[in-house]
Amino acid sequence: GTQPSLGEVAGIPLPATTVDNWHQIQGFEAQSDDLLICTYPKSGTTWIQEIVDLIEQSGDVDKCQRAAIQHRHPFLEWARPPQPSGVEKARAMPRPRVLRTHLPTQLLPPSFWESNCKFLYVARNAKDCLVSYYHFQRMNRTLPDPGTWDQYFETFISGKVAWGSWFEHVRGWWELRNNVRMLFLFYEDIKRDPKQEIQKVMKFMEKNLDGAVLDTIVQETTFEKMKANPMTNRSTAPKTILDQSISPFMRKGIVGDWKNHFTVAQNERFDEIYRQKMEGTSINFCTEL
Ligand code: A3P
Repeated sequence: GTQPSLGEVAGIPLPATTVDNWHQIQGFEAQSDDLLICTYPKSGTTWIQEIVDLIEQSGDVDKCQRAAIQHRHPFLEWARPPQPSGVEKARAMPRPRVLRTHLPTQLLPPSFWESNCKFLYVARNAKDCLVSYYHFQRMNRTLPDPGTWDQYFETFISGKVAWGSWFEHVRGWWELRNNVRMLFLFYEDIKRDPKQEIQKVMKFMEKNLDGAVLDTIVQETTFEKMKANPMTNRSTAPKTILDQSISPFMRKGIVGDWKNHFTVAQNERFDEIYRQKMEGTSINFCTEL
């Protein structure tokens, strides 16, 4: 078939369907009681949304599955007519709403900054993110073919991937974290101490759940559980969209898989580029557990 291509808004590559719907996305009206889950792709979006879902439903797994079927946290920039767009789904939702986006700060609809809503950002270290995105683009038929590993390594560094540069995305959101109501989490922290990080999310959502519920949420959101869960493993997505025979959507879920992909030279080069691009920021990632 033909290669899916990316469009662009203000220099940021985005899926063409998102660009086509840009006017509607920019006009989205955020509410003060919205919670917006923000991530760069492949940083643990599915994981955090499952955590948030379970907290919302007070750890009730069955209720969570039903709620998820009805309206799984609409993805703001989703647009694939004739299906309702993310914006349309969000508009039809009961409040308080949980929404999702991968947009960088400069492309977020302005109403989010004016609404005083809550932001939950999850960041993942760049090296594992690159690896995960590479495998995702191999199996995702709606994104361009990544080419070889060596080619994709360059594409990712240059930011010519959907939703733009990892470096700019993470920097942008990190720098705003104290200006708005934001909880900023790291994938690696959730992996290392899920209970502690889930507790932070609970507090942020102003939910008071007891220890047994917290333990349930920890157990239900392990990689193994989520890989086996049809609500989270995307097994129902058609093969023409996600070809899981190439690479599963729930792939490895670990910290440090970059070591199985980066050559020594690539690692040195990446560290140098990282240093340049992240200069002056106080953000600190761990790349191994
Ligand atoms: P890998 O490709 O490294 O395995 P997103 O949901 O933003 O697309 O991110 C997908 C990445 O998060 C994948 O990484 C996936 O395996 C990982 N992931 C999803 N659920 C997870 C969980 N419960 N624990 C750890 N990693 C998880």
